[in-house]
Amino acid sequence: MILSLNVSKKFSTHNIIFPDIKAQSSDFIQITGASGSGKTTFCEILAKFKTLDTGEIFINNKNINSINVFEHIHYISQFPEHNLLGATCFEELELWINAARPSSLHPDIPRKPNVKDAKNVIYSILNDFSLGNLINMPIWRLSFGQKKALAFCALIIVLRSVWVLDEPLAGLDIDLSEKLNDMIIEFIKKGGIVIVTSHEKNLDFEFTHSNTRIINIELDEPKYTFTHMEREKGWHLEK
Ligand SMILES: Nc1ncnc2c1ncn2[C@@H]1O[C@H](COP(=O)(O)OP(=O)(O)OP(=O)(O)O)[C@@H](O)[C@H]1O
Ligand SMILES: [Mg+2]
Repeated sequence: MILSLNVSKKFSTHNIIFPDIKAQSSDFIQITGASGSGKTTFCEILAKFKTLDTGEIFINNKNINSINVFEHIHYISQFPEHNLLGATCFEELELWINAARPSSLHPDIPRKPNVKDAKNVIYSILNDFSLGNLINMPIWRLSFGQKKALAFCALIIVLRSVWVLDEPLAGLDIDLSEKLNDMIIEFIKKGGIVIVTSHEKNLDFEFTHSNTRIINIELDEPKYTFTHMEREKGWHLEK
């Protein structure tokens, strides 16, 4: 269970106040909002990449400040390179397999596999995401959508109870979108919680069996004014 209460984040220019969120097992929540409304900021606060200024977030009744959120939440950024650490597709998945705790490694994936087993299992996962023939490709050569697909492979390898996916469908082709849709349905069926962000006000995914909600972050338009001099100097904000 995730509970987010009275969370806000203050930047030098403005304050973002987030709607409260309560998500239980098998819930699917789509957070919508305009560009700059704070969707990514909220994801990053959930994943403890950013701190919050007010409010509290609980996972299974424990404040996120007192737990290791990485054991609960798998966060995939809107910008896939933020999630990728390996030099090649193979290395990326090898890192996830080797770093996973035994209790969180997918049961079909062998622990500390030998080279041959690792190649087989990694090839099979990559192939599922149309990346099989790119197993040895340097990550920097992948397209945006391929990088996102590679980041999604980690969702299969490591078992977490919550997926936080920032704009997961942006840049994905139809096949990969359907694959992700199916993965989310499976995950929700098993009791997982999914929080996604989107610009769309309608549900981005097709579900029939899940508890789905759309929560909008209202953009409280910051009142910026600029003096002529500041424009000349490069658009600094007037205090
Ligand atoms: N580290 C930071 N310092 C100052 N302002 C920031 C910082 N990070 C984010 N912001 C501001 O917070 C606001 C929300 O940004 P955020 O990236 O969360 O929006 P978003 O809803 O994800 O937008 P998009 O739909 O374009 O991805 C923006 O105005 C952004 O400039
Ligand atoms: Mg964003």
